[in-house]
Amino acid sequence: MRDRVEALVERALSAIDSAESAEALEEARVRILGRKGELTALLRQMKQVDPDDRPAFGAMVNAARDRVQQELERRGQAMEARERARKLESDTIDVTMPGRIRPTGDLHPLTQGIREVTQIFVQMGFTVVEGPEIETDFYNFEALNTPPFHPARDVQDTFYINDFVLLRTQTSPMQVRQMEGQDPPVRVVVPGKVYRRDPMDATHSPVFHQIEGLLVDKDVTFADLAGTLTQFARTFYGKDRKVRFRPHYFPFTEPSAEMDVSCALCGGQGCRVCKYEGWIEILGSGMVHPNVLRAVGYDPDELTGFAFGMGVERIVMLKYGFDDVRLLYENDLRFLEQF
Ligand code: DAH
Repeated sequence: MRDRVEALVERALSAIDSAESAEALEEARVRILGRKGELTALLRQMKQVDPDDRPAFGAMVNAARDRVQQELERRGQAMEARERARKLESDTIDVTMPGRIRPTGDLHPLTQGIREVTQIFVQMGFTVVEGPEIETDFYNFEALNTPPFHPARDVQDTFYINDFVLLRTQTSPMQVRQMEGQDPPVRVVVPGKVYRRDPMDATHSPVFHQIEGLLVDKDVTFADLAGTLTQFARTFYGKDRKVRFRPHYFPFTEPSAEMDVSCALCGGQGCRVCKYEGWIEILGSGMVHPNVLRAVGYDPDELTGFAFGMGVERIVMLKYGFDDVRLLYENDLRFLEQF
């Protein structure tokens, strides 16, 4: 009996040793240890063994099984290690190969414009705030010294939601909301969307962007307005650009002025872009009207301030020298990728 067991182990070990694949190894395992395997068959012969010899026989077969199992495991691990080494060898990567570059998105030129402009004012001590696009007639017009039937309403043809509620035609209502909400001094810039009933063409869009500014404190003068806005224009458009202020009319400022910058294209000589003026208008501004200060409960004898508002589309188009706002809304990548 002992010889048979030993012979069996001998055969098993050499089968395991010569197995060259996981499948071959598994085949060997089944042939020896499986339900119909050789070692299992040997165990079944227990009955023929003399009862006195059975314990010794059992121990012998168990030892043989352990031995075979150990050997199976060892061989399996060795094969795995070999396989892993082979993989590592063939999978080596060439770190000098140029990578595949993923296309990354960029900020829209309007977003870039808003960030650049507001950043310039932040450096001068202004805070950035945003306000509601759905406004009331009161904030959009009335509190800004623009009562019903005021002629200034005509140039801002308005989307009304009902008699009192509308889509804001300007960011100026945030002047009122800011002053209402805090004690002076107030120093804010307000970027945002505004709406007007204009058909879309090269220079109009029913929705566009403005940036509003407001500074209210004691002893604020027109010189502060001029200095602040000149500093802004030079930072945004370049040091060599000239600026000028022209008297204008806005209901909520007095006096009011528009600011022009010298044309970048012709340097002020006059060309098609500036309509042979040499100057291009970039914003409206003025000293906050006493009626506006009164509407929010500020004392106009004690406080003064200046305000300004600019169209983002316009200043971005002037900066980069194109002349059709629709380019900013069509999302044509050939256009957008240039910024
Ligand atoms: N809200 C004006 C507009 O939409 C622009 C403007 C002009 C804003 C003068 C101001 C300002 O704050 O002082 O045309």
